[in-house]
Amino acid sequence: MGDVAAIAMSQRSAVTSELTAVPFTDLAAMAGEVWPEIEREYLACVLDGGYIGGPAVTAFEREWAAYCGVKHAVGLGNGTDALQISLTALGIGAGDEVVVPSNTFIATAAAVARAGATPRFADVSEDTLLMTPHTLAEAITPRTRAVMIVHLYGQMPDMTALLATAKQAGIAVIEDAAQAHGAEWDGRRAGSFGEVACFSFYPGKNLGAFGDAGAVVTSRPELADQIRTLANHGRSHGDSHYDHDCLGTNSRLDALQAISLSGKLAHLEAWTERRIALASRYRDLLGATEFTGTELKLTAVAPLARHVYHLFVVRVTRRDSIRAELAKRGIQTGVHYPVPCHRQPPLRRFAERPLPVVEQSASELLSLPMFPHMTDRQVDFVCESLCEALRAVAVSEEPVDVQ
Ligand SMILES: Cc1ncc(COP(=O)(O)O)c(C=O)c1O
Repeated sequence: MGDVAAIAMSQRSAVTSELTAVPFTDLAAMAGEVWPEIEREYLACVLDGGYIGGPAVTAFEREWAAYCGVKHAVGLGNGTDALQISLTALGIGAGDEVVVPSNTFIATAAAVARAGATPRFADVSEDTLLMTPHTLAEAITPRTRAVMIVHLYGQMPDMTALLATAKQAGIAVIEDAAQAHGAEWDGRRAGSFGEVACFSFYPGKNLGAFGDAGAVVTSRPELADQIRTLANHGRSHGDSHYDHDCLGTNSRLDALQAISLSGKLAHLEAWTERRIALASRYRDLLGATEFTGTELKLTAVAPLARHVYHLFVVRVTRRDSIRAELAKRGIQTGVHYPVPCHRQPPLRRFAERPLPVVEQSASELLSLPMFPHMTDRQVDFVCESLCEALRAVAVSEEPVDVQ
């Protein structure tokens, strides 16, 4: 084992041995597992100097397209650019509207606005916190050209019904699959449903690079070509370095990230299965507490969905106090997302109507630790700590009898 891998492993055992704390995630553990397998190739690339494009990028693009069950993948600089460039490649811009759920990372809606179009915010399901055919239909107007379906937290919504709604309205489907590597709906992988699908390989994602990276996948060759051109200063395939067909940008996947992604892709299924097993343990332990169904709610999983648990999200009343109690017990948590997109200052002007589920849930969402190298004991500790936190907050808020 290389030095770096040994360091990562020792940090990990320090984390897991005492159990006085549980981190939110553990990127070093994933790096430590994969590093011995990619070290030589990584070093060879560093010494060779072929950092932009080249065989490592082409190989990863081929592997990622095959994994998603589509014909083409175009490696890009990040997931945000993947969304914006996809819209531009589909000819969507000024005067067009794109429906997005408001419960998502701001990049989804920001990409629409940055492409010059107008985001139309949709509400989400009370049970899954994902867009539904009904909330999509509510947001469609005659100017709507597309919908960005977000597979939030790692779960795909009802794609059969959403695709039917989009088809009936004559609008394009773009998947924001940034949190859903390997997720499935009815046995079909995320990325294979839309005209295009956008992935982020931000380090904390289920498939994460050693820095920023992203990709678009599609089975339409002309779209793949156009996206590649737009992401490479408008250079057409085969054109010289200084011939530009259109105004593009610079958003290319680099070779070192491609090597790390190919290395990690070999582990993705095992890591995903581990996430699913951890989630099942969480569900067993949290599904039957004295608080379940009242102060504590689990998010539902549709029977046809393969949820890949990028995040394990529950809903709790008095969320901020619960978080503080968990922090006291050494448990790191997150909130995805505390402020819905339509309430964010740069996007407020696009907010048109109340979105009751998004608005109510934003104050209750709580993401518990979830990462493939998490141990069963750590899950147990988080669940015990969460129950203690719920009890502590309930007691502190009991009315005091004044004589
Ligand atoms: C749902 C969603 N969309 C888009 C993005 C943007 O991806 P990136 O951070 O790679 O630009 C993210 C990443 O955080 C995301 O979670």
